[in-house]
Amino acid sequence: MPTPQHIAFLMDGNGRWGTAKGMGRLFGHKQGVEAMQRVTGMLLKAGIPYATVYGFSAENWQRPAEEVTGLMGLLRWYATEKLDELHAQNIRLRVIGERERLAPDIQTLLARAEEKTAHNTALTLQVALSYGARQEIVRAVNQALASGATAISEEILEHYLYTASIPDPDLIIRTAGEKRLSNFLLWQASYSELVFTDTLWPDFSETDFAAALAEYKGRKRRFGRV
Ligand code: IPE
Ligand code: IPE
Ligand code: MG
Repeated sequence: MPTPQHIAFLMDGNGRWGTAKGMGRLFGHKQGVEAMQRVTGMLLKAGIPYATVYGFSAENWQRPAEEVTGLMGLLRWYATEKLDELHAQNIRLRVIGERERLAPDIQTLLARAEEKTAHNTALTLQVALSYGARQEIVRAVNQALASGATAISEEILEHYLYTASIPDPDLIIRTAGEKRLSNFLLWQASYSELVFTDTLWPDFSETDFAAALAEYKGRKRRFGRV
């Protein structure tokens, strides 16, 4: 099995990690961002050209206001403090999700980060923010209709997804023991291999990454064929 071209990460377990350390959920989220930076390094080293990370779901808006505010603060920090590092690593950043629901200043920061890194070539990193797959599909259908389409085909729908022109994930890794997709990439995950680990996201290490890749390599993808 060749190396995956696109890996998607369901970065779960930050809250539990922070709580277990007695430092609170937000500290867990901060360490989660650090873990994300580490993982980007692993992806670059492995030569994997596409990655998607689930940073904040459309449903996560329902969390307590204090946690949401803290997460938005982290996002501001990521989009400013980590931008030079991303750019130096030749990473192209793309945001997928309902960006219009984010605060205007965050929207501006993210647009700037996307613009600055637009021509980078080592890794395309999609960050899913206020993202929900069902919402993405409904939006795509509405955009297709608004553009004059009278019937939807797979090609038309895919053209209007946030992930248009990005190959589907070969592998989806979910941390922290939960075994569900939580509204992540439902369309794109049709034939993705799923790997679950009990490791909480802030602890996700080179060893976990290697284990996930080894598990993927041991799978046989059939796509409905024999
Ligand atoms: C994942 O960690 C990050 C976000 C959803 C923002 P969680 O915050 O879901 O952590 P747990 O699952 O509560 O431990
Ligand atoms: C999914 O994790 C969203 C992110 C990882 C950003 P959740 O922690 O929100 O998922 P559920 O609620 O356990 O399904
Ligand atoms: Mg969770």
